[in-house]
Amino acid sequence: MRELEERIKQDGRVLNQDVLKVDTFLNHQVDPMLMQKIGHEFYKYFQDYPITKILTVESSGIAPAILTGLEFQVPVIFARKHRSITMNKDLYVADVYSFTKKVANKISIAKTFLNSQDHVLIIDDFLANGQAVSGLTEIIQQAGAHLEGVGIVIEKTFQKGRQLIDQQQIPILSLARISGFQNGKVIFTEK
Ligand code: G4P
Ligand code: NA
Ligand code: NA
Repeated sequence: MRELEERIKQDGRVLNQDVLKVDTFLNHQVDPMLMQKIGHEFYKYFQDYPITKILTVESSGIAPAILTGLEFQVPVIFARKHRSITMNKDLYVADVYSFTKKVANKISIAKTFLNSQDHVLIIDDFLANGQAVSGLTEIIQQAGAHLEGVGIVIEKTFQKGRQLIDQQQIPILSLARISGFQNGKVIFTEK
């Protein structure tokens, strides 16, 4: 997505070897006009899939997920994060380890919001190590629902998330694909 790449070049800040800060339009301040276009891109790609729910994780996945749900005219569910959680029969729960933040979290959604009739599109802001997508996939399995695809705003192709998704042959669309950082500049993968 050309406009997104331009925005990353203009506003993104490379923090270290593998972290890109995009606080001005995605992770802190949010640009709703850009999010709307992002939602539309995901819709164009997945419109022939029988999507009934959009699934993401709080907090930064919510903005792109909402605008995608608006395009599909379906509900958006965001999994909640917990440092620890006691057994609760009303929740689907999965583990998510953040390599970036070095913390283990559990994510959960209430069982009432997902069932075996659902066809789910996962949306997230970043694909790095794929832990968020793995956790969401596990929750979809627990619900007996169908995972139709994954939509990612910014993918870092040099981390292992993409491989994890490809191994499971899940349809995926990433709107910007970053192959690395060089001298503080973002290098996009060739199309
Ligand atoms: P993974 O889900 O692909 O395994 O990601 P990882 O554990 O590496 O990342 C943990 C958190 O860091 C996630 O946000 C993820 O979106 C975010 N993240 C990963 N790489 C980058 C990056 O290059 N730049 C930025 N800005 N964020 C990155 P989170 O902990 O779920 O936080 P939230 O922002 O959604 O609340
Ligand atoms: Na995220
Ligand atoms: Na994030």
